[in-house]
Amino acid sequence: MFFCSSKRRKLELVMVIVFFLCFRVKAKCSSGCDLAMASYFLVEGSNLTYISDIFGKNIPEILACNPDVKNQNTIQFGTRVNIPFSCDCLNDDFLGHTFDYTTQPGDTYKIIAQKIFANLTTADWIQRINHLNPNLVLPYTSINVTVNCSCGDESVSKDYGLFMTYPLHPEDNLSFVASESGVPKKLLQLYNPGMDFSQGSGLVFIPAKGCF
Ligand SMILES: *[C@@H]1O[C@H](CO)[C@@H](O)[C@H](O)[C@H]1NC(C)=O
Ligand SMILES: *[C@@H]1O[C@H](CO)[C@@H](O)[C@H](O)[C@H]1NC(C)=O
Ligand SMILES: *[C@@H]1O[C@H](CO)[C@@H](O)[C@H](O)[C@H]1NC(C)=O
Ligand SMILES: *[C@@H]1O[C@H](CO)[C@@H](O)[C@H](O)[C@H]1NC(C)=O
Ligand SMILES: *[C@@H]1O[C@H](CO)[C@@H](O)[C@H](O)[C@H]1NC(C)=O
Repeated sequence: MFFCSSKRRKLELVMVIVFFLCFRVKAKCSSGCDLAMASYFLVEGSNLTYISDIFGKNIPEILACNPDVKNQNTIQFGTRVNIPFSCDCLNDDFLGHTFDYTTQPGDTYKIIAQKIFANLTTADWIQRINHLNPNLVLPYTSINVTVNCSCGDESVSKDYGLFMTYPLHPEDNLSFVASESGVPKKLLQLYNPGMDFSQGSGLVFIPAKGCF
């Protein structure tokens, strides 16, 4: 009898723990932050007018976050442009921002992710967000393109409040990203646990400067 009830109590305890674990997994975020940045790698053929259209931000708003861009018409491809956006807690589950994109003839999720959104998202992630047939992307359809973001991590540091979503490029490595961003390597690694900065693709979150 005693044995039985102690076993039952153990089971109850396990259930309570499981409940809390589930609850923790479920509500991963409760709020986002007003500002995050997307690091957009300009390829040949894209320009600020185009980006401003894609992200629904006007050119002066984008330029304010890119003091190094002196002339918006002669912006070089191969540069990275920072695009400000609000970082929201989506589905109580993760931080991101959903952009409304109107598909163009010839678009596939892969083209949208890799070319139009410059690897700020992936085809797989677009597919999971939208309830459409990925093999039949009709032109002039409104789809949701979600870009992940970060609002920081108080346990790492309270000194940084603004984060850039940065798609890793094949040329990147930890030293290079650290020197380009001016953020110490150790801190970059702490904000991106387990991430290999030389892996050539994937997203990392980098502390960034504000817009002026
Ligand atoms: C900007 O890029 C878009 C899309 O690639 C293109 O259609 C447009 O002509 C370009 N505008 C300028 C001023 O280069
Ligand atoms: C996105 O990633 C793919 C595959 O790694 C690469 O071929 C492509 O050039 C990248 N796009 C941009 C805009 O960097
Ligand atoms: C965005 O975050 C979600 C949740 O953490 C993850 O499942 C997804 O793979 C991420 N997407 C990208 C493109 O990294
Ligand atoms: C995009 O998101 C909105 C708001 O969550 C939703 O109503 C709509 O159905 C989504 N679009 C697609 C194509 O899934
Ligand atoms: C890191 O990347 C930079 C730029 O691509 C390159 O010049 C440097 O040799 C790389 N360093 C290492 C250790 O791979």
